[in-house]
Formats: sequence, C-alpha cells, structure tokens
Amino acid sequence: MYKAKVVGAGSYSPETIVTNRDLEKVVDTSDAWITRRTGIKERRIATGGLLTSDLATRAAQQALGQAGMDAQDLDLVVVGTVTPDRQFPSCACLLQEKLGARKAASMDVSAGCSGFIYALSVANNAIRCGEAQHALVVGAEVLSGVTNWADRGTCVLLGDGAGAVVLSRTDEDTGIKAIHLRSDGSFGHLLYSVDQNGTPRQALEIVPGAGEPKPFYLVMDGKPLFKKAVECLEEITRWTLDKAGVKVEELALMVPHQANIRIINALAQRLGLSEDKVYTTIERYGNTSSASIPTALAEAVSMGRLAPRDKLLMVTFGAGLTWGASLVEWSI
Ligand code: UT7
Repeated sequence: MYKAKVVGAGSYSPETIVTNRDLEKVVDTSDAWITRRTGIKERRIATGGLLTSDLATRAAQQALGQAGMDAQDLDLVVVGTVTPDRQFPSCACLLQEKLGARKAASMDVSAGCSGFIYALSVANNAIRCGEAQHALVVGAEVLSGVTNWADRGTCVLLGDGAGAVVLSRTDEDTGIKAIHLRSDGSFGHLLYSVDQNGTPRQALEIVPGAGEPKPFYLVMDGKPLFKKAVECLEEITRWTLDKAGVKVEELALMVPHQANIRIINALAQRLGLSEDKVYTTIERYGNTSSASIPTALAEAVSMGRLAPRDKLLMVTFGAGLTWGASLVEWSI
C-alpha cells in the first residue's frame, strides 16, 4: 500500500483584528476574564465580503507554492468546514474553481472543529489505496457569520481563518503514520447550531411568504464540553501514539486544536509533554474550528519548528462530538 506525506503547508488569516477590548463594547465581558479563562487576546474577522472559500484559496495557494505544485496536479480537494459559503455546492468545489484544480474530485467534510483531521483522513486513505496521487486538505471557517454577538459565552471565543496542506503519494517510510477518529452523537447537545427561533433547520411551510429561511448561529454548553475535551484528547492521543509505535518523549511538536489554553495545558500536563513542544496560536486567533490546526501547523513550519523525520502530533475535538488525532513523520 502507498503512503501519504505532507509536501506543503499554508495559511491565511484575515487582516481585521478584533481585540478583547473591542468586545468589551459589544457584550458584558472583560479582557481580564477572556484572557484568564481562555488565553485569547484577539481574533481575526473576515470583513469586506471575504468568504470561507476565499480564505481557503489563499491558504491553499501558499501550500501549493511550498509544495512547488500546480493546482492542476491535484486529484482531490477535501475541505473541513462548518461554515461553507453555501450549503451547496460544497466549499471544496468553489475552492477547486478558484484554484483551477481542473482534474480534482472535491468534497466538504463536516465534523465540527475536527473537520481538518477528518479531511486529512479522507485524503490519506485516497492516497493509500491509489485513488489519488496529490491531494489538498483544507480547514477553513468564517465563524463570525454564525456567531451570536449577544452571547458572551461564545462570541469572545471565535475567529475566522484557513489553513491547508498538500499531500503526495510516497514510497518512502515517512509521512502520515497513523490517524485515529472518533465520534459520539449522544453529546451533540453540547455544541450545535440553531436558527433564530432556537430550532434546527426544518422544512419550510408551503405558504407564500410564511416560511422565510432564517440565519443560524452556534450554541455551546462550555463547562461539560471542556471536561469531555480533555478526556477525549488524552485518550485519542494515547491510542494514536500506540498505533504509530511512538512514545510521548519522541514527539518534536504537538499542534492541538486551539479551543482554550486551559484545555491545551491540561492535555500537555496529562501527557507529560513540556510547554516548548506545544504550538499555540489561540492568543492571536481564538478558536477557528477546522482552521485552527492547519493554521498553527503552517505557522510552526514557517518558524522552522519542524525538521525532516520530526514526529508531529495533531489532535482535535469538536461538535458532534467528534475527536481525532494524527501522528506524522515530517518530510519537508
Ligand atoms: O472548539 C470546540 C470545543 N469547544 C470547547 O471545547 C470549549 C470548551 N469550554 C470552554 O472553553 C470554557 O468552558 C468556556 C471558555 C466556554 C467558559 O469558561 P468557564 O471557565 O467554563 O466559564 P463558565 O461557563 O463556567 O462561566 C463562569 C462565569 C459565569 O458567571 P457566574 O454564573 O459564575 O456568575 C459566566 O456567566 O463566567 C461568566 N462568563 C463570562 N464572564 C465574562 C461566561 N462568559 C463570560 C465572558 N465574560 N465572556
């Protein structure tokens, strides 16, 4: 069976910065509370009509540039997102068109904040079984479009952005060593979307003017989610390391989903992983859902934090509930 290795990484974060102080003017909150409880100082917001597919395009172009590859070489485009431009066509198809990836098959994966790792798994399997030689994997979100700006429990957490990696088939003994995914729908009530009436999406009434579509936003029960997150992240990390035959001490870098600095620190502490081996961006970008891991990864790569043969762990958790991890032997 073939293997897949990462040959390029890229990211794009919109230019508009919203600080905690800015949010003090919007809801009853404070810079001190947000910093202490989450680690977030500021986040980026996609203004000027930028859509998820636009952010994804910029991140993908950077990843393709690092890979030295043309979009026309891609066989597959997979986008993890909960905020596609439209319900359909998929964000991946819109991205394919913007990139000019003419011969690729394209699809979205909806797995909450775990979207990028789920998308990585889809692309990894397509390469392993010979269906694709080169695949683009993206995590991209415009969460500001589904944020309830009156809810201080969620609006201070979220941000917009995109990150991408290019995977290529390899015969070498390197690249993606393990991916492990899990989900548990019985905890779906902890993080979900509703329309303005608080209901899920329903069939519209067949009465002229009576059934106008309503915009939706996300709702979260943060405390129990926090507890589940730490448990699931530790469990999936240990399984994935076992599957790859890698010990915690051998890790060069962990790039976790950036939901809360206290979750990240608790995970690192349980694993016995020192702070210098954990890459965080939450202070500057907040929680960007599917985009958080590939954004942090691309930044870590650009900062020279990974060398060939380094062992990288990516681990995530999100709505569904979904969670997952991947152990990669770095190859750039
Ligand atoms: O990305 C996918 C998964 N997401 C997560 O895993 C997120 C997990 N959860 C969390 O990160 C945390 O639970 C939050 C950051 C969401 C909340 O932190 P917390 O320490 O669990 O706070 P809490 O919800 O227990 O609220 C504590 C207090 C409450 O006030 P009272 O009832 O003690 O008077 C809240 O009303 O803090 C209040 N509060 C705030 N105060 C100022 C909640 N949000 C805010 C706010 N500013 N923005």
